Amino acid sequence: MKAIEIRNKYLEFFKKYNHTVIPSAPLIPENDPSVLFNTAGMQPLVPYLLGETHPAGTRLCDYQKCVRTNDIEEVGDNRHLTYFEMLGNWSLGDYFKDESIAMSYEFLTKELNIPAEKLSVTCFAGDEDCPRDTVSAEAWKKVGIPEERIYFYGKDDNWWIAGEEGPCGPDTEMFYDTGKPACGPNCEPSCDCGKYVEIWNNVFMEYFKDKNGYRKLKNKNVDTGLGLERMAMLMQGVETPFDTELFKPIMDKLSELQKIDNIESRRIIAEHLRSSMMITCDGGRPSNVDRGYILRRLIRRMIRHMNKLQIDLNELSTLIDINVDNLKEMYPELEKNRKDIKDVILAEKDKFVKTLNHGEKEFEKQIKKLEGTKVVPGNIVFRLYDTYGFPPEVTKELATENGMEIDMQEFEKLFKEHQEKSRQGSAQKFKGGLAEQTETTIAYHTATHLLHEALREILGEHVKQRGSNITEERLRFDFSHPQKMTPEEIKAVEDLVNEQIQKDLKVTCEEMDYEEAKNSGAIGLFTDKYGDRVKVYTIGDFSKEICGGPHVTHTGNMGRFKIKKEQASSSGIRRIKAVLIKD
Ligand code: ALA
Repeated sequence: MKAIEIRNKYLEFFKKYNHTVIPSAPLIPENDPSVLFNTAGMQPLVPYLLGETHPAGTRLCDYQKCVRTNDIEEVGDNRHLTYFEMLGNWSLGDYFKDESIAMSYEFLTKELNIPAEKLSVTCFAGDEDCPRDTVSAEAWKKVGIPEERIYFYGKDDNWWIAGEEGPCGPDTEMFYDTGKPACGPNCEPSCDCGKYVEIWNNVFMEYFKDKNGYRKLKNKNVDTGLGLERMAMLMQGVETPFDTELFKPIMDKLSELQKIDNIESRRIIAEHLRSSMMITCDGGRPSNVDRGYILRRLIRRMIRHMNKLQIDLNELSTLIDINVDNLKEMYPELEKNRKDIKDVILAEKDKFVKTLNHGEKEFEKQIKKLEGTKVVPGNIVFRLYDTYGFPPEVTKELATENGMEIDMQEFEKLFKEHQEKSRQGSAQKFKGGLAEQTETTIAYHTATHLLHEALREILGEHVKQRGSNITEERLRFDFSHPQKMTPEEIKAVEDLVNEQIQKDLKVTCEEMDYEEAKNSGAIGLFTDKYGDRVKVYTIGDFSKEICGGPHVTHTGNMGRFKIKKEQASSSGIRRIKAVLIKD
């Protein structure tokens, strides 16, 4: 069964059970600077999981384009992908565990014809936050899964949350037994030897987590996710997603073009090309920060592996065409944006080729100076990287060709220092418009922290910053909240902020490890997962936030805080414009 048939069957099936099919959101979240890409079907639905009414009803289903980037380096093995498609169905306070499990079971066994005996399931074992999920286990037994194929695990395996805070809950996962021999007497679904493949995850989202712990959401929701590539692989009885029709044409072409055979490199090229095309198609552009940097990394890693296989880089255009032709039935937007996608990816290729040429020349120059030594110092590796965009792996390859090694340890030290600097820069950028730091903009910046905390105290902890911008005249602050604020709420927020200003609270800054900051309960955008050290600004005992600064030293002279406007910014996101009045 082809991937598109699985997708169509899925949507048809849930339509039959009164679900409305909603479109896939673009890969790049529209109003959420705190995540780089949509990583799950639930992401665009967060406001509705928190209780806002969805215009399409309480039963939804879709296919969602997703990119997960934490495993880029793993791509090349037989299973990791950066881009994937997630099929999902949702109940927004409608059906719950019994019905959800019955539908999943019916879909797997009746629509996909998976023999029941190939299925095992896992449920949440229970802990101090949430009881053991015996309801799900009973539901599984009722549909016909015998007790010995029902496993219970703790939060590590059977609890789902996107990131650190947000809607979450226990989940039940379905596993497909590939029939491979067990790796040992304790081989269970949680084992990653390859015998069991996870195929579907149903999350029972009835909790909300924040720094204070768990509380119940307004509704009992269901959020499910089924990875399409993986299901296609199992349905087709092949070993890897690269052997399905999704990748076959591109993999075959790469085999034909390569002068050196390497399966990992072929997979990396095929995967990163598809991922880069999908990101570019949804408006992503290569750059040196955030999303753009991920896209740049994907394209450049792909090109390095094309070089490694000695594939003529001029073939890239043909490879893009092959992918568009192969995938356009699933993603018609690829055909529509064929030219744009090509322009962007080919331009980035040209840029990288220049970089490589410059870097190589510079490398030769440095090597001459180092004559007689065996190790290329870390600062040279770093300079090549930082100034010429020359990846350390390439320097390493060149060094090896010259009978030398590189000082990777020193490079990594310098790289970390550099990352920390840019992390703080990017934290600052997210806080908005602080390039020109005047007394006024700095005061607005501090006011933004006070506002953020006040909103959380008055409206609830679901309030999260979604954007911020500061000018000499005002601050603008976007945050998640399902409905319009009442005049009383606005007044309460203003009063709370002004109270803090009048208290003349001291603002202090501390540097700490990222993890430590998170554990200390500091709020803020946890965007850059790689930086080690972060700055945490504390305002009296009122607010604690990760941020690049700068801030006033005392709140006393900031002026009187007044909210000028409270309006919708987009679905589930409100926008406040506020001023500081110097009386
Ligand atoms: N949101 C759940 C997941 O991504 C379904 O696995």
